[in-house]
Amino acid sequence: MPASDLASLLSTRALGRTIHALDEVGSTSDLARSLADAGATHGTLVVAEAQRWGRGRRGRVWVSPPGENLLFSLVLRPAIPLARASELTLVAAVAIAEALGGAGFPAAIRWPNDLLLAGKKVAGILTELAASGEAIRWVVLGVGIDVNSRVFPPGVAEIATSLALFSGQEVARAPLLAAVLGSLESWLARHAREGLGPVRERWLQRSSTIGARVRAEGPEGPVEGLAEAMDEDGALLVRDAAGRLARIVAGDVEPIR
Ligand code: BTN
Repeated sequence: MPASDLASLLSTRALGRTIHALDEVGSTSDLARSLADAGATHGTLVVAEAQRWGRGRRGRVWVSPPGENLLFSLVLRPAIPLARASELTLVAAVAIAEALGGAGFPAAIRWPNDLLLAGKKVAGILTELAASGEAIRWVVLGVGIDVNSRVFPPGVAEIATSLALFSGQEVARAPLLAAVLGSLESWLARHAREGLGPVRERWLQRSSTIGARVRAEGPEGPVEGLAEAMDEDGALLVRDAAGRLARIVAGDVEPIR
């Protein structure tokens, strides 16, 4: 995607105002991390048509055929303490879900930050950061949205979808990316002004996890039970069969029957 196509569509003040648009890169997040270390400003965007080693959460790979989808990473320099960094993942999930909703795709959020359409994953978010003591130096938010892919590898087709598969038509990527950046900028500003409250409220409205039976990795090992709520700090509360409540702060949560 040429940087000029995107630049002309942006409504943001900071996000995407510096753009590195590449045909191919190792990982947009790796490049964004180096740029951040070298002093790149808040909002610097790296977007690529293809990645040689796209990275997913928990050491997984993120596979995306060239030219079909959105693969991008943003350098953020949020003014919040390190202890609250995990909130940014929820902010990003809400912002992307809202942008997809605005484009006619009713995305749900699976804890903490997978975006689902009709129960299948359509986008993923990888949040990485560097800190000095208690201060965040930078956050790199890496986002993959399956926009126009129609064929997935065996085993993935059952759990993944794309906007084109959902709607039956090709979706223009530059306007969608501009909408995602606009939504992210306004949710980041809201989070900075008002804290996690409004983000949490919107997250709960869009959640596919709350009320579902799940398996998760708790602080004392695996937990199975009902995902009851998200607490004020953004942790997921899962009640097991013995009535004990586990607080899940990181990791994957799988739905179970
Ligand atoms: C997940 O596991 O759900 C997170 C996937 C994040 C993938 C995106 S694609 C753009 C950016 N660059 C990467 O290497 N990963 C993220």
